Parts: sequence; structure tokens; C-alpha cells
Amino acid sequence: MSTIGKPARCVVTGGAGFIGSHLVDALLADGNHVVAVDNMSTGSATNLGNARAHPNFDFVEADVADAVVMEPIVAACDRFYHLASYVGVKLAAMSSSQTILNNLRAIDTVLALVSRYKPRFLLTSTSEIYGKALDVVGGSDALAEDADRVYGATEIHRWSYAGVKAVEEFLTLAKHHEEGLDAVIVRLFNIIGPRQVGRHGPVVPRFVDQALANEPITIYGTGEQRRCFTYIDDAIDAITLLTGRDDTGGEVFNIGGCAPISMRDVAELVCEISGSTAGVTYVPYEAAYGKKFEDVQYRMPDTSKLESWTGFSIDRSMRDVLTAIIEQHPSRTIAQVRASDV
Ligand SMILES: NC(=O)c1ccc[n+]([C@@H]2O[C@H](COP(=O)([O-])OP(=O)(O)OC[C@H]3O[C@@H](n4cnc5c(N)ncnc54)[C@H](O)[C@@H]3O)[C@@H](O)[C@H]2O)c1
Repeated sequence: MSTIGKPARCVVTGGAGFIGSHLVDALLADGNHVVAVDNMSTGSATNLGNARAHPNFDFVEADVADAVVMEPIVAACDRFYHLASYVGVKLAAMSSSQTILNNLRAIDTVLALVSRYKPRFLLTSTSEIYGKALDVVGGSDALAEDADRVYGATEIHRWSYAGVKAVEEFLTLAKHHEEGLDAVIVRLFNIIGPRQVGRHGPVVPRFVDQALANEPITIYGTGEQRRCFTYIDDAIDAITLLTGRDDTGGEVFNIGGCAPISMRDVAELVCEISGSTAGVTYVPYEAAYGKKFEDVQYRMPDTSKLESWTGFSIDRSMRDVLTAIIEQHPSRTIAQVRASDV
């Protein structure tokens, strides 16, 4: 059943981040009132440039683990979107304890408050949850939401991100089961788009920055690792469709797009579309992530559950997605991408 179209009072944690700021814009465009909460640890004020001028928007700079600040905000909302997180494998590999503790403190406070005030709740989880399941099990099967998870040893810090996001999922599902929280979880697969920055690890913005500066694109490892990337607009559409329903409590959905592509092919496409002639360079994982690191070779989502619940499927090509990102890059160079001949 759908409640799409009814204005709601929404809270977006991590609202100054990449995905959060796009969600804020979409919720405002749909006529909702939105409060964004962010501690600006990786977020940026410029991401909220559109929203700040909107009469239905408020911004609170705070840590979501601060219950005193958060209680009145939660008490006054209908929908709570929890995106605030230390994000990604690189940040986890470099600052594992901060990633774990920041996310645990945040989910602890947030779930206590939403359990008390009962807004509809969404948690953004990650494809990292599946770990290296497909590499170990083998084959080319897509990962369904009930697939087994396979992680490496605890001495490999990258797995702390998967571990803490799994705990966030467990806690959220427990609150649904034990206290009736109307909670839905989305597992996002490599979301890319404008406003994403490469400094904390994501591949595509880093590749695009390097290509537009006509510097060689740095590929870690062999470049044969394959992922399924998802354009931000598609992720936001899927999220808003799911949270517009009132029958998704206790459910988990994969959100993923584009066919699997290797990092080598992503780099070559970025060079082609941007006009970069600098090529690529290969660097061992150790240079980026330190001594003990393990990568995942292949990950692909089964999105049939999302499609059957919402009728929404994602079928953009990686070429179209990269073209859109390069065209909207704030510092387009390489002769403005050959005078827009992309
Ligand atoms: N980008 C992706 O491809 C991807 C993939 C899977 C899952 N996700 C999930 O999506 C969500 C958003 O990711 P993103 O890519 O927009 O990352 P991001 O780093 O751009 O945004 C995260 C935001 O959370 C804020 N934040 C962190 N801890 C906070 C705290 N304790 N209190 C208040 N604010 C805090 C940061 O300042 C930042 O603005 C995260 O939950 C992440 O795990 C992202």
C-alpha cells in the first residue's frame, strides 16, 4: 500500500553527505518538510546549497549520538532516514575503531528514540554486508537479501565496516521484531553521482578527478575486480518508493544497478568519455590500505525483490552514468570535455 504524495515531516541523518543531500532534495521536491542532521565529519555545506534556500528545510549540526539534541527532532517526525555513518572500506581500513564506535553510538541513540516515538524508519546498509560471499562460494549468482555472509579475519580492518553495518541491521530488525518498529533496510550497491568525493575511498569520483586533471588513473590491485554501480537518482527513487509504502516493516531490499564491470573497464571508459590521454597506472593494495588488506573480486545484487515490491528496475548503462557524472563535475577540464562532444 502506498502513502506517496502525502507530505511528511522527515529527518535525514547524514543529510550533508553525498546520498543524504540528494535524498533531502528529493523529499523537499515531493512537498515534505525535512530536517537534516549532520556532524560534518565527512559532509559538506555545499551539498545542501539547494536545500538551504527552501522554506521547508532545517539543518541541525550535531552528532546523532547526542540524545538531548535528537529527542525533540525524533519526537516531531513521521519518517526517519538514518544515513549518518562513517562510510566505506578505505575509512574502515584506516580508522577502524572510529568507524565502529561512531556507527554503534549513532544507531544506539537513534533506535532508542525511534522505538519510543515510532516514526517510519529507514536504515541505509551496504553491499559490503555480503563480504566475499561470491568469491568463496564461486559461480556468478547474484546476491539475494537472504544470502549467507562471508567475511575475512578480524585482523583485516576493512571487515569492520561490514561488521558494524551488520550489527546496525541486526539491531534494527530486532526493534521491528520486539517492539513493532516500522523499519525497512536498504542495502546500497556502489552508489555514484554528483557530489560524491573520492578522498575516503570511492573509486569513480577518484577516477574522474584524475582523468579530468589529465593525470593517470590509479587502479589498486589487478583492476579485474568487478562491481555493479548504481546512479544516485535511481537509488533515491528506490528509497522514496520503499518509504512511501506502509507494508515494508522488517524487510531488507537490495538497491543496485548497472551490469557488473571491472575497475579496468571503468577506468578505460572514464578516459574515453573525459578525453584523458594520461592512461592508467597500477598500484598494489598495500600502498593504499596498508599491509593487511583483502579485496572482493565480484559482487552483484539480485534486485528481484525491489522490482516485485515497487515495479522499479534500474537499467542504465555505465557509459550513460559516467557521462552524466563527468558532465556535472564542478571542475570540468580537458577542454571542457572536448567542447561537450561526449
Ligand atoms: N556511497 C555508497 O556507495 C554507499 C554504499 C552502500 C551504503 N552506503 C550507506 O549510505 C549512507 C550514506 O553514505 P554516503 O555515501 O552519502 O556517505 P557520506 O560520507 O557522504 O555521508 C555520511 C554523512 O554522515 C555524517 N555523519 C557521520 N557520522 C555522523 C554522526 N555520528 N552524526 C551526524 N552525522 C554523521 C557525515 O558527516 C556525512 O555527511 C551510509 O549509511 C552508508 O553506509 C553508501
